[in-house]
Amino acid sequence: MAEVVLTGVRKSFGPIEVLKGIDLTIDDGDFAVILGPSGCGKTTLLRSIAGLEGITSGSICIGERVVDDVPAAEREIGMVFQTYALFPHLNVYKNIAFGMRMRGEPKARIAEKVDEAAAKLRLTDYLARLPRELSGGQRQRVAIGRALVREPQVFLFDEPLSNLDAELRVDMRLELANLHQSLAATMIYVTHDQVEAMTLGSKIVILDRGVLQQVGSPLEVYYHPGNKFVAGFVGSPRMRFIPATVVASDRRQIKVHADGISPETIVVDADGSRLAAGDAVEIGLRAEDLRADAPAPGHLLLTGTARQVENMGHSSFWYGTLKGTESELIARLDKHLFIRPGVETQFSVDPANVYLFDDEGRSLERHGFRNENLEAQARRA
Ligand SMILES: Nc1ncnc2c1ncn2[C@@H]1O[C@H](COP(=O)(O)OP(=O)(O)OP(=O)(O)O)[C@@H](O)[C@H]1O
Ligand SMILES: [Mg+2]
Repeated sequence: MAEVVLTGVRKSFGPIEVLKGIDLTIDDGDFAVILGPSGCGKTTLLRSIAGLEGITSGSICIGERVVDDVPAAEREIGMVFQTYALFPHLNVYKNIAFGMRMRGEPKARIAEKVDEAAAKLRLTDYLARLPRELSGGQRQRVAIGRALVREPQVFLFDEPLSNLDAELRVDMRLELANLHQSLAATMIYVTHDQVEAMTLGSKIVILDRGVLQQVGSPLEVYYHPGNKFVAGFVGSPRMRFIPATVVASDRRQIKVHADGISPETIVVDADGSRLAAGDAVEIGLRAEDLRADAPAPGHLLLTGTARQVENMGHSSFWYGTLKGTESELIARLDKHLFIRPGVETQFSVDPANVYLFDDEGRSLERHGFRNENLEAQARRA
């Protein structure tokens, strides 16, 4: 297995630059999840690593080897595509064996490798079946089997679960986590799915319009987003933002005022050394941090006007606006609610859960928060 290092990778299609200078190190054994909106360059990035797409400038290193001039077939990559791309007229055995047969490997070795992959992927009973006689999840496992027998240095997955129904996705997610553990392989995995990103990734890589936004552990990017884009993109439902104005600030604290939130001056323990009184900032709030029970002393108070409530069974999502403003709010509440649109609800928020962003969308670093959460993560590891 191997690490993957990208240095200043740029890729243009004609006049359009899709990857704008990517510097990224994926460590040996990492499960790196690439997250970003549609069209941001995720597939292009994977295809560039695989050698299916030539890069315009920069360099890619897999293991010890610079692969810029190495053709795709020799890069020791196993790629699994969203569409599986199985041969419809070949059975499972032949689909998995295809690459090895093309390379003219001995029959006995092929049989051994296919059987081993099939056992790992629970496909042993299906080897004689054609793809159309398989479920979506089984087809997906065949596609993974095909990558597995190559014994690649690195696995690349491009949204491999997006065609599966919700329940199968959960099963396959657990299987992929097991596979990663048992192979200790380096995996690079593209997804739109927040839960997949948070649960599978040892590292999350967030991309927007061809530019890396942040690289970090799942909890790091969740609790410590570097900017507003990452804050809004990681987490489901998404963080909501409320305009505010700086009242006073220093290295230790930022005091802001936001219409619709009391007290009049909100104190956040964050580094405000680059702010001045009067600066525009934005407060970020996550759904789980709005509470509808009796507020604790020192918590912020806000009144929400309901637009809609979704009861999910174990909890409900309340959607509405901050009273007297246009700002959207969202709250996750741990009980059923039956609220008509227009009804007002009182919420409270612990000021430690307030995120702040400057007018360029950069995060204002919160004190005490980072260490606490990252230590919790380290304890679990
Ligand atoms: N062969 C190509 N020729 C021209 N433009 C391309 C080509 N391939 C991709 N693009 C453009 O590059 C951009 C990035 O595409 P890419 O497929 O990498 O996005 P993505 O992040 O994988 O999106 P999605 O989540 O929708 O799969 C898009 O604007 C796309 O239209
Ligand atoms: Mg894509």
